[in-house]
Amino acid sequence: MTQRLRNVTQVSGRQKPIKSLRILFRLHFPDWRPDCICPRHTHMSSRFKNAEHLIRVALVFVGGLIVFVIIRGMIVPKTFGQYGHYRGDALKDIEARTPLYAGREVCEACHQEVADLKKTGKHRGVGCEACHGPLGKHAQDPPAMVPVRPDSKALCVKCHEANSAKPRGFPQVISKEHAGDLACATCHLQPHKPKIGDDTPPKSAGGASKK
Ligand code: HEC
Ligand code: HEC
Ligand code: HEC
Ligand code: HEC
Repeated sequence: MTQRLRNVTQVSGRQKPIKSLRILFRLHFPDWRPDCICPRHTHMSSRFKNAEHLIRVALVFVGGLIVFVIIRGMIVPKTFGQYGHYRGDALKDIEARTPLYAGREVCEACHQEVADLKKTGKHRGVGCEACHGPLGKHAQDPPAMVPVRPDSKALCVKCHEANSAKPRGFPQVISKEHAGDLACATCHLQPHKPKIGDDTPPKSAGGASKK
């Protein structure tokens, strides 16, 4: 030990910076012997001394990858990616559902009378389901789901209650002053043609031309 130290300090004066570093290293790790061929040191100094660790990690990674591919194959639906980044069959599922809204053309096909009357009044531009709510189920099978008639007291103010945010030309009333506690239908007898005077009250029942 002391012998080696002396050797080191003797040469150090003439050494270039890199070599001095190596000497410093030797000072701190006197047991470090890269040129030794004993099994311990050759193993330590081998370039791939950690190869077995790397192989183990690689095997775990490959194994995980295989498991991932297998599970993915089982979980991902067959039609996924058929058209885009979604399940192709989803389109059929959605198509099979009953639409929430039928659309006014569908209503008009059966309720011709109401449709014709509505066309002559100011509500001509208002869709049936804007007042009656979504009736897709009724349109598909009328007797299975007969809609309740909307209550004018709750319905009309939804659009006609005065509000400064509404366009000035839009017919609006302060319902308390205009109607008091009366339902709007007390005076506006025909919701499909609301102007008082040229309105005819709705029939008590039906309205659908049975076909
Ligand atoms: C396939 C024909 C058909 C379609 C489409 C249809 N209806 Fe009907 N609707 C009927 C029939 C028939 C009745 C009467 C059912 C009964 O009383 O058993 C009815 C009843 C009604 C009633 C109740 C009438 C009452 O006297 O109280 C309302 C309101 C109504 N429909 C609105 C609509 C609206 C709004 C639509 C469009 C979303 C629509 N209907 C689409 C056939 C249809
Ligand atoms: C402005 C709102 C409004 C619109 C738009 C509207 N309705 Fe109505 N509808 C009513 C109200 C309110 C009643 C209930 C009247 C009553 O109680 O007497 C009613 C009643 C009915 C009735 C039963 C009474 C009758 O007159 O035969 C049918 C059928 C009907 N509506 C179909 C339709 C159809 C079809 C459309 C679209 C073409 C439509 N409605 C659009 C508000 C509306
Ligand atoms: C979904 C919104 C909506 C609902 C609900 C609604 N209305 Fe209307 N109403 C309108 C629109 C839109 C007009 C046309 C406005 C225009 O011509 O600028 C109108 C116009 C009117 C007018 C003016 C008629 C005229 O000749 O000047 C009256 C009266 C009226 N509605 C009464 C009613 C009554 C009564 C109810 C309830 C049965 C009702 N409205 C429900 C949207 C609605
Ligand atoms: C006591 C009878 C009566 C009642 C109840 C009533 N109205 Fe009227 N309403 C009238 C009269 C009359 C007119 C003026 C004639 C017309 O334009 O049809 C009118 C006009 C209207 C107008 C048109 C205003 C304009 O600027 O052109 C609207 C919108 C209206 N009413 C909405 C309602 C609503 C919503 C209700 C329920 C909260 C209601 N009315 C209840 C009698 C009534």
